[in-house]
Amino acid sequence: MNLKNQIPSLLEELADLSLSEALALVASRFPDSVAFSTALGQEDQVITHAIFSAKLPVRIFSLDTGRLFQETYTLWSETERLYQSKIEPFFPQASDVEAYVSRDGINGFYDSVESRKACCHVRKVLPLTRALQGLSVWVTGLRSGQSANRSSFNLLEWDENFQIIKFNPIINWSFDEMLAYLQEHQVPYNKLHDQGFVSIGCAPCTRAIEPGEEPRAGRWWWEQTQKECGLHANYFNQKN
Ligand code: ADX
Ligand code: SF4
Repeated sequence: MNLKNQIPSLLEELADLSLSEALALVASRFPDSVAFSTALGQEDQVITHAIFSAKLPVRIFSLDTGRLFQETYTLWSETERLYQSKIEPFFPQASDVEAYVSRDGINGFYDSVESRKACCHVRKVLPLTRALQGLSVWVTGLRSGQSANRSSFNLLEWDENFQIIKFNPIINWSFDEMLAYLQEHQVPYNKLHDQGFVSIGCAPCTRAIEPGEEPRAGRWWWEQTQKECGLHANYFNQKN
């Protein structure tokens, strides 16, 4: 059976499983073919804990854009030390970044939405394409409560762009459930969360948010876009 056709039956099997059980089941169905992408966010740390603490056969990788916060790198290294496990790095191709910066400037992403998307494409989407090569399942830390855009995302999706099953195991968790899990298991988190940062991406493109602002308001705050970088473009008609 092709990958896409396996989604309905897999969905039924996952219905009443806990996070760890669900990850273990998917890993056993697709041996050596499941990987989790972490941006070291709070949602991601929940899934990282579930994978590393139970030593599940799921690879964990992160896309290092070269423009991440120092606090994010600190958390990356702290997480590896705590669980005695590695998070695989995926970097953009040097020649792609050089061509982009030569054309648009070192901070060209502030100048136009097109330039910002081009930067995200080079630093995130292309490395993700490489990271997902040959895999059957891509696990993400997406949560439907993160934004209006994301409210319709599902537990399992077919990702047409990457031709892969996308598994969002905590898609239906509330913010409070996520925090409770992190506290209960004493999972390390990005210290920027203590300074009003909620959704954290690259340093030049992320700010803290004010009370009452939506969680992703601090991402690309100068734009009036859907605030997506293209990784999750399968959910939108246009390229994000
Ligand atoms: S983004 O598309 O706006 O950057 P967000 O930061 O909300 O995404 O993260 C949503 C999910 O996308 C994360 O849980 C993670 O699975 C994936 N993701 C986003 N950024 C990265 C990254 N730099 N490295 C690996 N995965 C990422
Ligand atoms: Fe470039 Fe900003 Fe996108 Fe990071 S978030 S890849 S710095 S435009």
